[in-house]
Amino acid sequence: MSTVTCIAPVNIAVIKYWGKRDETLILPANDSISASLDTDQLCAKTTVMASPNFKEDQIWLNGQKEDIRNPRLQNCLAECIMLFLVRKRAGNVTQIGQWKVHICSENNFPTAAGLASSAAGYACLIASLANLYEIKGDISSIARVGSGSACRSVLGGFVKWSMGSLSDGTDSIAKQIAPPTHWPEMRVLILVVNDAKKKFPSSVGMKRTMETSDLLKHRIKHVVPERVNKMERAIMEKDFKTFAEHTMKDSNQMHAVCLDSYPPFTYMNEISHVLVDLVHLYNEAVNDTKVAYTFDAGPNATLYLLEENTPEFMGVLDYFFPPLEDTLVEYKKGLPIEAAKPSKS
Ligand code: DP6
Repeated sequence: MSTVTCIAPVNIAVIKYWGKRDETLILPANDSISASLDTDQLCAKTTVMASPNFKEDQIWLNGQKEDIRNPRLQNCLAECIMLFLVRKRAGNVTQIGQWKVHICSENNFPTAAGLASSAAGYACLIASLANLYEIKGDISSIARVGSGSACRSVLGGFVKWSMGSLSDGTDSIAKQIAPPTHWPEMRVLILVVNDAKKKFPSSVGMKRTMETSDLLKHRIKHVVPERVNKMERAIMEKDFKTFAEHTMKDSNQMHAVCLDSYPPFTYMNEISHVLVDLVHLYNEAVNDTKVAYTFDAGPNATLYLLEENTPEFMGVLDYFFPPLEDTLVEYKKGLPIEAAKPSKS
Protein backbone atom coordinates (compact mmCIF):
# COMPACT_ATOMS: atom_id res chain seq x y z
CA MET A 1 0.00 0.00 0.00
CA SER A 2 1.20 3.49 -0.82
CA THR A 3 -0.24 6.56 0.93
CA VAL A 4 0.18 10.30 0.35
CA THR A 5 -1.39 13.22 2.25
CA CYS A 6 -1.42 16.81 1.00
CA ILE A 7 -2.92 20.09 2.07
CA ALA A 8 -3.88 22.80 -0.42
CA PRO A 9 -5.02 26.38 0.03
CA VAL A 10 -8.26 28.13 -0.75
CA ASN A 11 -7.74 30.80 -3.41
CA ILE A 12 -9.81 33.95 -3.75
CA ALA A 13 -9.88 35.54 -7.19
CA VAL A 14 -9.35 39.27 -7.56
CA ILE A 15 -9.86 39.05 -11.34
CA LYS A 16 -12.65 36.54 -11.78
CA TYR A 17 -12.91 33.48 -13.98
CA TRP A 18 -16.50 33.52 -15.24
CA GLY A 19 -17.24 31.75 -18.52
CA LYS A 20 -15.76 28.79 -20.37
CA ARG A 21 -14.79 28.63 -24.03
CA ASP A 22 -14.60 24.80 -23.74
CA GLU A 23 -16.86 23.02 -21.24
CA THR A 24 -15.14 19.63 -21.44
CA LEU A 25 -11.52 20.71 -21.07
CA ILE A 26 -12.57 23.57 -18.77
CA LEU A 27 -10.89 26.30 -20.76
CA PRO A 28 -11.76 29.79 -19.53
CA ALA A 29 -12.95 32.74 -21.60
CA ASN A 30 -10.50 35.09 -19.84
CA ASP A 31 -7.36 35.19 -17.71
CA SER A 32 -7.85 35.38 -13.94
CA ILE A 33 -5.75 36.28 -10.88
CA SER A 34 -6.09 35.11 -7.29
CA ALA A 35 -4.33 34.96 -3.94
CA SER A 36 -3.90 31.65 -2.15
CA LEU A 37 -4.67 31.87 1.56
CA ASP A 38 -2.48 30.64 4.36
CA THR A 39 -3.09 26.91 4.78
CA ASP A 40 -2.92 27.31 8.57
CA GLN A 41 -6.28 29.04 8.27
CA LEU A 42 -8.39 27.53 5.47
CA CYS A 43 -7.39 24.48 3.51
CA ALA A 44 -8.34 21.13 2.07
CA LYS A 45 -6.54 18.02 3.27
CA THR A 46 -6.53 14.88 1.15
CA THR A 47 -5.11 11.42 1.66
CA VAL A 48 -4.84 9.04 -1.29
CA MET A 49 -4.09 5.36 -0.79
CA ALA A 50 -3.31 2.88 -3.56
CA SER A 51 -3.32 -0.82 -2.84
CA PRO A 52 -3.39 -4.06 -4.82
CA ASN A 53 -6.05 -5.22 -2.31
CA PHE A 54 -8.58 -2.48 -3.10
CA LYS A 55 -11.37 -3.80 -5.32
CA GLU A 56 -12.60 -0.43 -6.57
CA ASP A 57 -11.81 3.30 -6.50
CA GLN A 58 -13.63 5.05 -3.64
CA ILE A 59 -13.90 8.58 -2.30
CA TRP A 60 -15.01 10.17 1.01
CA LEU A 61 -15.61 13.93 1.28
CA ASN A 62 -15.76 15.32 4.81
CA GLY A 63 -16.43 11.80 6.10
CA GLN A 64 -19.29 11.08 3.66
CA LYS A 65 -18.88 8.47 0.94
CA GLU A 66 -19.43 10.11 -2.49
CA ASP A 67 -19.96 8.78 -5.97
CA ILE A 68 -16.57 8.26 -7.60
CA ARG A 69 -18.25 8.18 -11.02
CA ASN A 70 -18.51 12.00 -10.97
CA PRO A 71 -17.21 12.82 -14.51
CA ARG A 72 -14.85 15.58 -13.36
CA LEU A 73 -13.25 13.28 -10.79
CA GLN A 74 -12.93 10.57 -13.39
CA ASN A 75 -11.22 13.01 -15.77
CA CYS A 76 -8.68 13.92 -13.09
CA LEU A 77 -8.00 10.31 -12.19
CA ALA A 78 -7.70 9.33 -15.86
CA GLU A 79 -5.31 12.20 -16.58
CA CYS A 80 -3.05 11.31 -13.63
CA ILE A 81 -2.98 7.64 -14.54
CA MET A 82 -2.26 8.51 -18.17
CA LEU A 83 0.68 10.70 -17.18
CA PHE A 84 1.86 7.97 -14.85
CA LEU A 85 1.75 5.42 -17.66
CA VAL A 86 3.68 7.74 -19.96
CA ARG A 87 6.37 7.96 -17.29
CA LYS A 88 6.27 4.24 -16.73
CA ARG A 89 7.07 3.60 -20.36
CA ALA A 90 10.09 5.86 -20.01
CA GLY A 91 11.46 4.50 -16.77
CA ASN A 92 11.49 2.41 -13.79
CA VAL A 93 8.30 2.65 -11.70
CA THR A 94 6.08 0.17 -9.90
CA GLN A 95 2.69 -1.26 -10.80
CA ILE A 96 0.95 1.31 -8.67
CA GLY A 97 -0.86 2.72 -11.74
CA GLN A 98 -2.90 -0.47 -11.93
CA TRP A 99 -3.94 -0.39 -8.28
CA LYS A 100 -7.30 1.04 -7.22
CA VAL A 101 -7.25 4.17 -5.05
CA HIS A 102 -9.14 5.27 -1.95
CA ILE A 103 -9.40 9.04 -1.48
CA CYS A 104 -10.32 10.86 1.75
CA SER A 105 -10.69 14.60 1.54
CA GLU A 106 -11.81 17.17 4.06
CA ASN A 107 -12.14 20.95 4.22
CA ASN A 108 -11.89 22.96 7.41
CA PHE A 109 -14.57 25.40 6.12
CA PRO A 110 -18.14 25.13 4.75
CA THR A 111 -18.30 23.21 1.47
CA ALA A 112 -20.02 24.84 -1.52
CA ALA A 113 -20.75 28.09 0.29
CA GLY A 114 -18.98 30.16 -2.31
CA LEU A 115 -15.65 29.71 -0.54
CA ALA A 116 -13.95 27.92 -3.41
CA SER A 117 -14.06 24.57 -1.63
CA SER A 118 -13.90 22.66 -4.92
CA ALA A 119 -10.79 24.63 -5.88
CA ALA A 120 -8.85 23.62 -2.77
CA GLY A 121 -10.30 20.09 -2.91
CA TYR A 122 -9.33 19.32 -6.50
CA ALA A 123 -5.95 21.01 -6.16
CA CYS A 124 -5.26 18.85 -3.13
CA LEU A 125 -6.43 15.67 -4.84
CA ILE A 126 -4.20 16.34 -7.82
CA ALA A 127 -1.21 17.28 -5.67
CA SER A 128 -1.68 14.00 -3.76
CA LEU A 129 -2.10 11.86 -6.88
CA ALA A 130 0.82 13.60 -8.60
CA ASN A 131 2.94 12.79 -5.59
CA LEU A 132 1.72 9.20 -5.49
CA TYR A 133 2.46 8.67 -9.17
CA GLU A 134 5.60 10.82 -9.07
CA ILE A 135 4.34 13.13 -11.79
CA LYS A 136 6.73 16.05 -12.24
CA GLY A 137 6.20 19.49 -13.78
CA ASP A 138 2.99 21.49 -14.09
CA ILE A 139 -0.02 19.96 -12.37
CA SER A 140 -2.30 22.99 -12.68
CA SER A 141 -3.66 21.78 -16.03
CA ILE A 142 -4.73 18.49 -14.40
CA ALA A 143 -6.40 20.30 -11.47
CA ARG A 144 -8.15 22.52 -14.04
CA VAL A 145 -10.16 19.60 -15.44
CA GLY A 146 -11.56 18.97 -11.96
CA SER A 147 -12.67 22.57 -11.42
CA GLY A 148 -11.34 25.58 -13.30
CA SER A 149 -10.38 27.65 -10.29
CA ALA A 150 -8.57 24.63 -8.76
CA CYS A 151 -5.64 25.21 -11.10
CA ARG A 152 -4.79 28.35 -9.10
CA SER A 153 -4.86 26.49 -5.76
CA VAL A 154 -1.89 24.27 -6.65
CA LEU A 155 0.32 27.32 -6.13
CA GLY A 156 0.87 29.75 -3.28
CA GLY A 157 1.03 33.54 -3.20
CA PHE A 158 -0.46 35.53 -6.07
CA VAL A 159 -1.34 33.35 -9.03
CA LYS A 160 -2.40 34.01 -12.62
CA TRP A 161 -4.33 31.47 -14.68
CA SER A 162 -3.69 32.25 -18.36
CA MET A 163 -6.63 31.32 -20.54
CA GLY A 164 -4.24 30.09 -23.24
CA SER A 165 -4.98 29.93 -26.95
CA LEU A 166 -4.51 26.26 -27.87
CA SER A 167 -7.62 24.12 -28.41
CA ASP A 168 -6.14 21.20 -26.41
CA GLY A 169 -5.72 23.44 -23.35
CA THR A 170 -2.04 22.66 -22.82
CA ASP A 171 -1.25 26.36 -22.42
CA SER A 172 -4.17 27.06 -20.07
CA ILE A 173 -2.13 26.83 -16.90
CA ALA A 174 -1.58 28.69 -13.65
CA LYS A 175 1.68 30.41 -12.74
CA GLN A 176 2.80 32.22 -9.63
CA ILE A 177 3.08 36.00 -10.13
CA ALA A 178 4.54 36.65 -6.67
CA PRO A 179 5.47 34.34 -3.79
CA PRO A 180 3.65 34.28 -0.43
CA THR A 181 6.38 36.42 1.13
CA HIS A 182 6.00 39.20 -1.44
CA TRP A 183 3.24 41.17 0.33
CA PRO A 184 3.25 39.97 3.95
CA GLU A 185 1.13 42.93 5.12
CA MET A 186 -1.84 41.71 3.07
CA ARG A 187 -4.73 40.34 5.13
CA VAL A 188 -7.95 38.62 4.18
CA LEU A 189 -11.19 38.59 6.17
CA ILE A 190 -13.85 36.13 5.14
CA LEU A 191 -17.32 37.15 6.28
CA VAL A 192 -19.64 34.18 6.20
CA VAL A 193 -23.05 35.61 5.49
CA ASN A 194 -24.57 32.20 4.83
CA ASP A 195 -22.82 28.82 4.92
CA ALA A 196 -25.59 26.84 3.22
CA LYS A 197 -24.78 24.94 0.04
CA LYS A 198 -25.22 27.22 -2.96
CA LYS A 199 -28.45 26.94 -4.90
CA PHE A 200 -27.06 27.59 -8.34
CA PRO A 201 -23.70 25.95 -9.12
CA SER A 202 -21.13 28.22 -10.75
CA SER A 203 -20.75 25.89 -13.74
CA VAL A 204 -24.48 26.24 -14.53
CA GLY A 205 -24.35 30.00 -14.03
CA MET A 206 -21.26 30.42 -16.20
CA LYS A 207 -22.83 28.45 -19.03
CA ARG A 208 -25.93 30.61 -19.00
CA THR A 209 -23.84 33.79 -18.89
CA MET A 210 -21.66 32.55 -21.77
CA GLU A 211 -24.75 31.80 -23.85
CA THR A 212 -26.82 34.89 -23.16
CA SER A 213 -24.87 37.88 -21.80
CA ASP A 214 -23.76 40.69 -24.12
CA LEU A 215 -21.99 42.33 -21.21
CA LEU A 216 -19.78 39.24 -20.84
CA LYS A 217 -18.58 39.65 -24.46
CA HIS A 218 -17.60 43.23 -23.66
CA ARG A 219 -15.92 42.13 -20.41
CA ILE A 220 -13.85 39.40 -22.05
CA LYS A 221 -12.67 41.55 -24.94
CA HIS A 222 -12.44 45.07 -23.60
CA VAL A 223 -12.14 44.93 -19.80
CA VAL A 224 -10.26 41.91 -18.47
CA PRO A 225 -7.08 42.05 -20.63
CA GLU A 226 -6.20 45.57 -19.49
CA ARG A 227 -7.37 44.93 -15.93
CA VAL A 228 -5.16 41.83 -15.64
CA ASN A 229 -2.11 43.90 -16.63
CA LYS A 230 -2.98 46.63 -14.14
CA MET A 231 -3.59 44.07 -11.39
CA GLU A 232 -0.28 42.32 -12.03
CA ARG A 233 1.51 45.65 -11.84
CA ALA A 234 -0.36 46.64 -8.66
CA ILE A 235 0.65 43.36 -7.00
CA MET A 236 4.29 43.69 -8.06
CA GLU A 237 4.42 47.32 -6.85
CA LYS A 238 2.33 46.58 -3.73
CA ASP A 239 0.00 49.38 -4.79
CA PHE A 240 -2.99 48.61 -2.55
CA LYS A 241 -5.22 51.40 -3.88
CA THR A 242 -5.08 50.11 -7.49
CA PHE A 243 -5.28 46.49 -6.31
CA ALA A 244 -8.39 47.28 -4.26
CA GLU A 245 -10.11 49.32 -6.94
CA HIS A 246 -9.77 46.61 -9.60
CA THR A 247 -10.67 43.85 -7.14
CA MET A 248 -13.97 45.56 -6.32
CA LYS A 249 -14.74 46.54 -9.92
CA ASP A 250 -14.08 43.02 -11.13
CA SER A 251 -16.32 41.46 -8.49
CA ASN A 252 -19.05 43.95 -9.37
CA GLN A 253 -18.72 43.11 -13.05
CA MET A 254 -18.87 39.37 -12.45
CA HIS A 255 -22.14 39.83 -10.57
CA ALA A 256 -23.36 42.26 -13.23
CA VAL A 257 -22.88 39.64 -15.98
CA CYS A 258 -24.94 37.21 -13.87
CA LEU A 259 -27.74 39.79 -13.85
CA ASP A 260 -27.22 40.39 -17.56
CA SER A 261 -27.74 36.66 -18.22
CA TYR A 262 -31.15 35.51 -19.37
CA PRO A 263 -32.92 34.46 -17.22
CA PRO A 264 -30.89 36.49 -14.73
CA PHE A 265 -29.56 35.05 -11.47
CA THR A 266 -27.89 36.45 -8.35
CA TYR A 267 -25.49 35.16 -5.72
CA MET A 268 -25.24 38.19 -3.44
CA ASN A 269 -27.99 38.86 -0.91
CA GLU A 270 -29.11 41.89 1.06
CA ILE A 271 -26.34 41.54 3.64
CA SER A 272 -23.75 41.25 0.86
CA HIS A 273 -24.97 44.59 -0.51
CA VAL A 274 -24.87 46.17 2.95
CA LEU A 275 -21.22 45.06 3.18
CA VAL A 276 -20.45 46.62 -0.21
CA ASP A 277 -21.96 49.91 0.98
CA LEU A 278 -20.11 49.70 4.29
CA VAL A 279 -16.73 49.27 2.57
CA HIS A 280 -17.36 52.23 0.25
CA LEU A 281 -18.63 54.42 3.11
CA TYR A 282 -15.59 53.53 5.20
CA ASN A 283 -13.14 54.24 2.36
CA GLU A 284 -14.88 57.59 1.77
CA ALA A 285 -14.79 58.44 5.47
CA VAL A 286 -11.04 57.81 5.73
CA ASN A 287 -10.49 59.50 2.36
CA ASP A 288 -8.44 56.56 1.10
CA THR A 289 -8.98 53.04 -0.26
CA LYS A 290 -8.13 50.85 2.71
CA VAL A 291 -10.52 47.91 2.24
CA ALA A 292 -11.63 45.95 -0.83
CA TYR A 293 -14.45 43.42 -1.12
CA THR A 294 -14.93 40.57 -3.53
CA PHE A 295 -17.74 38.00 -3.86
CA ASP A 296 -17.65 34.62 -5.57
CA ALA A 297 -20.64 32.42 -6.42
CA GLY A 298 -22.33 33.02 -3.08
CA PRO A 299 -23.29 35.80 -0.66
CA ASN A 300 -20.12 35.60 1.48
CA ALA A 301 -17.71 38.52 1.33
CA THR A 302 -13.96 38.31 1.17
CA LEU A 303 -12.25 41.51 2.22
CA TYR A 304 -8.67 42.35 1.32
CA LEU A 305 -6.93 44.90 3.56
CA LEU A 306 -3.50 45.66 4.95
CA GLU A 307 -2.45 44.54 8.42
CA GLU A 308 -2.18 48.13 9.72
CA ASN A 309 -5.84 48.80 8.85
CA THR A 310 -7.27 45.49 10.04
CA PRO A 311 -7.98 46.27 13.74
CA GLU A 312 -9.82 49.49 12.89
CA PHE A 313 -11.98 47.87 10.21
CA MET A 314 -12.73 44.91 12.45
CA GLY A 315 -13.96 47.46 14.97
CA VAL A 316 -16.27 48.90 12.30
CA LEU A 317 -17.58 45.40 11.53
CA ASP A 318 -18.12 44.70 15.23
CA TYR A 319 -20.09 47.92 15.55
CA PHE A 320 -22.43 47.25 12.63
CA PHE A 321 -22.56 43.47 13.01
CA PRO A 322 -22.04 42.70 16.70
CA PRO A 323 -20.19 39.37 17.04
CA LEU A 324 -23.10 37.55 18.65
CA GLU A 325 -25.35 38.24 15.71
CA ASP A 326 -25.35 35.02 13.71
CA THR A 327 -25.92 36.75 10.36
CA LEU A 328 -22.24 37.59 10.16
CA VAL A 329 -19.30 35.77 11.58
CA GLU A 330 -15.74 36.87 11.24
CA TYR A 331 -14.59 33.53 9.98
CA LYS A 332 -10.86 33.49 9.52
CA LYS A 333 -8.05 35.84 8.81
CA GLY A 334 -4.76 34.98 7.27
CA LEU A 335 -2.05 35.68 4.80
CA PRO A 336 -2.29 34.70 1.18
CA ILE A 337 0.59 32.30 1.46
CA GLU A 338 1.36 28.63 0.99
CA ALA A 339 1.01 25.98 -1.66
CA ALA A 340 0.07 22.32 -1.60
CA LYS A 341 2.38 20.51 0.85
CA PRO A 342 2.94 16.82 0.26
CA SER A 343 4.05 14.25 2.78
CA LYS A 344 4.58 10.68 1.71
CA SER A 345 4.65 7.35 3.49
C1 DP6 B 1 -16.79 32.73 -8.96
O1 DP6 B 1 -13.92 26.86 -10.64
O2 DP6 B 1 -16.06 26.56 -9.33
O3 DP6 B 1 -15.10 31.46 -7.90
O4 DP6 B 1 -14.72 25.38 -13.50
O5 DP6 B 1 -17.18 25.09 -13.42
O6 DP6 B 1 -15.76 24.14 -11.60
P1 DP6 B 1 -15.92 25.24 -12.63
O7 DP6 B 1 -16.10 26.57 -11.83
P2 DP6 B 1 -15.37 27.07 -10.53
O8 DP6 B 1 -15.70 28.63 -10.68
C2 DP6 B 1 -15.31 29.55 -9.75
C3 DP6 B 1 -15.69 30.90 -10.17
C4 DP6 B 1 -15.48 31.99 -9.16
C5 DP6 B 1 -14.45 32.98 -9.65
C6 DP6 B 1 -13.01 32.53 -9.59
O9 DP6 B 1 -12.64 31.77 -8.68
O10 DP6 B 1 -12.24 32.99 -10.44
